[in-house]
Amino acid sequence: MKKLTILAIAVLALAALVLTSCGAPAKPKVGLSFSDFATERWPRERDEMSKNLKAAGYDVLVQEANHDAKLQNDQIKNMVTQGAKVIIVVAEDGDSAATAVDDVSKKGVKVIAYDRLIKTANIAAYVSFDNVDVGRNQAKGVLAVKSSGNFVLLGGSPTDNNAHLFRKGQMEILQPLIDSGKIKVVADQWVENWDAANAKKLMENILTATGKKFDAVVASNDGTALGALEAMRTAGLAGKVPISGQDATADGCNSIARGELTVTILKDTRKLTPLATDLAIELVKGQALTDLAPTSLADLTGDASKTGTVPCKFLQVFQVTKDNVKQLVVDSGFQTYEDVYKGIKNPPAK
Ligand code: BGC
Repeated sequence: MKKLTILAIAVLALAALVLTSCGAPAKPKVGLSFSDFATERWPRERDEMSKNLKAAGYDVLVQEANHDAKLQNDQIKNMVTQGAKVIIVVAEDGDSAATAVDDVSKKGVKVIAYDRLIKTANIAAYVSFDNVDVGRNQAKGVLAVKSSGNFVLLGGSPTDNNAHLFRKGQMEILQPLIDSGKIKVVADQWVENWDAANAKKLMENILTATGKKFDAVVASNDGTALGALEAMRTAGLAGKVPISGQDATADGCNSIARGELTVTILKDTRKLTPLATDLAIELVKGQALTDLAPTSLADLTGDASKTGTVPCKFLQVFQVTKDNVKQLVVDSGFQTYEDVYKGIKNPPAK
């Protein structure tokens, strides 16, 4: 009896020791790797995805690479060392990130390419918007105001596959008009890092090179369009020459309300964030992903030498102009009335 009691006490003591040394079971970890936080959307999506994952009981590791592709690869590998099972990546450079993905996928870690393609068939999923349609709508929005003349093209960051998809869509609309001689492309530039200051400098050079003689600008997002508009304003062209953007940012929509930016593209990121975090959770649980369509890398990159397919999902995009910005952007709660109509005389009724 005495022996039994001693044994029972010993077992209890051991159990207590195990519990106190281990604490609660560790939460599974999911990584969020961002190219940068310069564009308005990324910090917002970081917050939404972190919130979703934490609410579902996950630990979240977040890193920002400040436009440094090598740093981003190191950060991805480091997240794996810290125990991340799934990593959601907004790639700075779709080629370079493929190296990190190939490496970590050998260790069983799953990577979701978020919004931007990572060019390897080793990604577990690619979720984004219909990026070619973004480009089509940018070109159409500008053409609705100016359908002929000298056009300037401002592409996005050349290392971002999306920049090429946007251009593909823009050219689907513009090329027939170029071929028929209605439109002449007088400048064609790509904005490194999608940086607004770079876009402003490029536009200053274009203004000089063309002697201000252009009729429309097809720019690829709000940040770069607003940078270009700064230079155009100094030259007296803002509000006179139509220009496109993308993202329906607060500043972009405000510029639309002012009559400077002609068109932006609403991509409802509030739908993309839960899609990505749901997939991440399914991957951590080892579940098979459903509702994704296999798409060939060759199609996604326009590079026939790329082999393999990736499971994809692309969400719908919406063209936003002065006529529908209130309804699509403000009434849907994507941006606030106060931000969109800041400093605007006679705004529409709230
Ligand atoms: C995104 C855009 C964004 C741009 C700059 C692109 O890959 O699709 O929404 O404006 O990157 O961050």
